[in-house]
Amino acid sequence: MENINSYEKLLAANKEWATEEIKKDPDFFSRLAHIQTPEFLWIGCSDSRVPADKITGTQPGEIFVHRNIANLVIDTDVNLHSVLEYAINFLKVKHVIVCGHYGCGGVKAAMDKHSLGIINNWLRSIKDLYKFHQIEIESETTDENKTNKLVELNVKEQILNLSKTSVIQKAWKNDLRPHLHGWVYGLNDGIIKTVCEMSPGDKIDPVYEFDDL
Ligand code: CO
Repeated sequence: MENINSYEKLLAANKEWATEEIKKDPDFFSRLAHIQTPEFLWIGCSDSRVPADKITGTQPGEIFVHRNIANLVIDTDVNLHSVLEYAINFLKVKHVIVCGHYGCGGVKAAMDKHSLGIINNWLRSIKDLYKFHQIEIESETTDENKTNKLVELNVKEQILNLSKTSVIQKAWKNDLRPHLHGWVYGLNDGIIKTVCEMSPGDKIDPVYEFDDL
C-alpha cells in the first residue's frame, strides 16, 4: 500500500466499503438503486472537515446534499435553487438544514481585505452582513469570536433567504413543511449547535411574502 497513489487509495477503500456494506445487508445497493426518499436537505459549507453524513450519523439515501463555500443561499444561484426545488417538490423533504461551521474560511475571507478573485463576488453578501452587524461583531474580544459571531449571523441570514423563496412559501402553505434549521458545527468538538429555526406559518416580513401561491 505504500507506493499507492493517493487517488488509488480512494478506489481501493471504495471496494472495501462496498464489500462490507453487502456483508452487513445484502440488499443495501439494490434497494437504494431504485429509489431515494431522504427526509432532509442539507445546505452546508464545502469545507472538507464538515461531511454532512459522517457528522450526523446518516446513511446513503438519508440526506440530499448541496454544499458551497460558506453555505450561502443566493437568489441567482441556479445550482442551489435547482437542488432546493427538486428536494421540496419531488423528494418532499421535511427538513432543510443550513449548517455553517465555526472557523469558516469563507467567512474569514469576507472579513479580510485580501482579494481572492471570483471568490470576492461569491462572498460579497457576507461582507454586506458584516457591515450591517459591524457593531455587534466588533464588540467581540478576539478575532476568532468575531469570525464565529459572523458565522452564526450568516447561517441565520441564509435561513431567512430560504423563507423568502416562493418554493418554501408554497410548501409551507400547501404542505405544512419543511421546517428550516440553522446549525453551526464546531470544528474543535464535533458538536452541532442550533442557532435558529423556522416552521411553516412563521411570519416573515410582508415585503417578501407572495400571496398568490
Ligand atoms: Co466553511
